[in-house]
Amino acid sequence: MDNYKAINWNAISDQIDKATWEKLTEQFWLDTRIPLSNDLADWRTLDDDHKWLVGHVFGGLTLLDTLQSQDGMAALRKDVATPHETAVLNNIQFMESVHAKSYSSIFSTLNTPEEISEIFDWSDSEEFLQNKAKRIYDLYHDDSNPLKKKISSVFLETFLFYSGFYTPLWYLGHNKLPNVAEIIKLILRDESVHGTYIGYKFQIGFNKLSDNQQQDLKDWMYNFLYDLYSNEEKYTHMLYDQVGWSDDVLKFIRYNANKALMNLGQDPLFPDTAEDVDPIVMNGISTSTANHDFFSQVGNGYRLGKVEAMKDNDYKIWYPKDNK
Ligand SMILES: [Fe+2]
Ligand SMILES: [Fe+2]
Repeated sequence: MDNYKAINWNAISDQIDKATWEKLTEQFWLDTRIPLSNDLADWRTLDDDHKWLVGHVFGGLTLLDTLQSQDGMAALRKDVATPHETAVLNNIQFMESVHAKSYSSIFSTLNTPEEISEIFDWSDSEEFLQNKAKRIYDLYHDDSNPLKKKISSVFLETFLFYSGFYTPLWYLGHNKLPNVAEIIKLILRDESVHGTYIGYKFQIGFNKLSDNQQQDLKDWMYNFLYDLYSNEEKYTHMLYDQVGWSDDVLKFIRYNANKALMNLGQDPLFPDTAEDVDPIVMNGISTSTANHDFFSQVGNGYRLGKVEAMKDNDYKIWYPKDNK
């Protein structure tokens, strides 16, 4: 083999790697620091249908974060462009394990042991949840197309999580379960950086393709998104019809599907915008009061193309002004 190379953080070829490392390490958190038991009084006011919903959306999210921590980042790590990208993906992989574990902290606070086993039996077998996990898993384990792996990761994190995130954000907007929601907001804050970073790395590779190759990959991407959306419609109805929220959840996930495309530098697929989403839920999604887009504070070698810059109502990603 060629000589093995030590990672040198004083010779950075892509400033986005360094900025993302700093951002992610700065926002490090652990589930054990959130006082979840303070939500028990709220939890006891929920009827059985709403308790079922909360438990099972978190069961679904546990499965998806498990997939990211066990397969997703390892798959992306095979295709890195820089050693610093490997370091960032290592950080992301660990945080995916924190995310996956944090739902168990919520379960152990709110649910009985019997309910917890039922939730895991459900997430390990539910048809529509398993459909999406298996589609993404297969793409992660196909090394023939690294860009499709990145698309899968961005679709998973910026789109497929949101049918689950809707529930805790709805409760947060109604002043219920604030500590559960705090965990979800921390996860969401991480995912918004992950989705933007992996989308950025995708765009570097995508821009190197010929026009024909770009068009083929775009066609594949939109078809894949539409397939995932069709499955997501069924998943949403199965979870939310009993509480009557399905239409609102579907608006929210169409809006997030567009965000996933934006992370990948592509045009939106659906007409839904932030204004169409329940404002109470949108308020919950704001992860910071600052408003800086991911790229404006770092480097100058990269510009967003035809996609819009992030606005107040979008996910807020904050970088210290003095990042170099
Ligand atoms: Fe995650
Ligand atoms: Fe993530």
